[in-house]
Amino acid sequence: AAPVESWDKPLAGKVALVTGAARGIGATIAEVLARDGAHVIAADIPAAGEALSETANKVGGTALPLDVTADDAGAKVAEHVLERHGGLDIIVNNAGITRDKLLANMDAGRWNSVISVNLIAPQTLVNELIERKALRKGGAVVDVSSIAGIAGNRGQTNYGASKAGVIGLVDTYAPILAKSGITINAVAPGFIETAMTAAIPLATREVGRRMNSLQQGGQTVDVAETVAYFASPASNAVTGNVVRVCGQSLL
Ligand code: NAI
Repeated sequence: AAPVESWDKPLAGKVALVTGAARGIGATIAEVLARDGAHVIAADIPAAGEALSETANKVGGTALPLDVTADDAGAKVAEHVLERHGGLDIIVNNAGITRDKLLANMDAGRWNSVISVNLIAPQTLVNELIERKALRKGGAVVDVSSIAGIAGNRGQTNYGASKAGVIGLVDTYAPILAKSGITINAVAPGFIETAMTAAIPLATREVGRRMNSLQQGGQTVDVAETVAYFASPASNAVTGNVVRVCGQSLL
């Protein structure tokens, strides 16, 4: 087929769910997908409150209070999209948390909460939406992993394991979803300037910035544009990949 002449609004007519959309990388992903023409359902924990409505209003989308670890999370999303839109085209599993501790002090609470939000929830959500026939043919799943899931990171065994697990999910799901014409890919950001990284002690934060391939902290839009590529028809034949964004080149 001939190349498309231009990609004005490549996501027109598509419905996209972005989890963790109240702030940070998720809020910018919502903006970029809406710019490209998608109707965005911005999801975040109920406690995100106003910040979530702000994202949704800014992008002309819908706010969906949703704890991705809730037992009924998948059912809730399926019901929402089937009732209002007849289905969903794009899932961006962006919601994520850190609970850092050096390995000797890594307790079960920290381990389980991080695995639950970062790894189990993305898998469950995709499964539930497929089971309920809510994910349309030709769709795209984009998971936000991390460079910590490729290279590891001191004090982040729980987080690194969860993000490495996400890469395993992508590898395993790619051929399964391909049967329905759905792609699944991951982005693995390096250090990005958000509230999550602002909480890191200063010295460690500086190291993170320096290890970035840009030699400075990346911006949320750097990640969002890569997500938009994976969500767009330009990447219809691209599945099962992990792309480093602002990933460290020096380790
Ligand atoms: P952030 O902390 O600024 O935003 C994360 C959002 O996820 C928050 O709005 C939070 O309320 C939401 N969230 C947390 N638990 C949730 C749950 N159970 N259900 C629904 N929403 C939930 O974080 P940031 O930096 O924007 O990170 C976004 C994603 O990117 C995460 O998956 C993170 O692990 C990943 N990442 C971030 C990097 C960085 O340098 N900032 C680097 C690599 C990956």
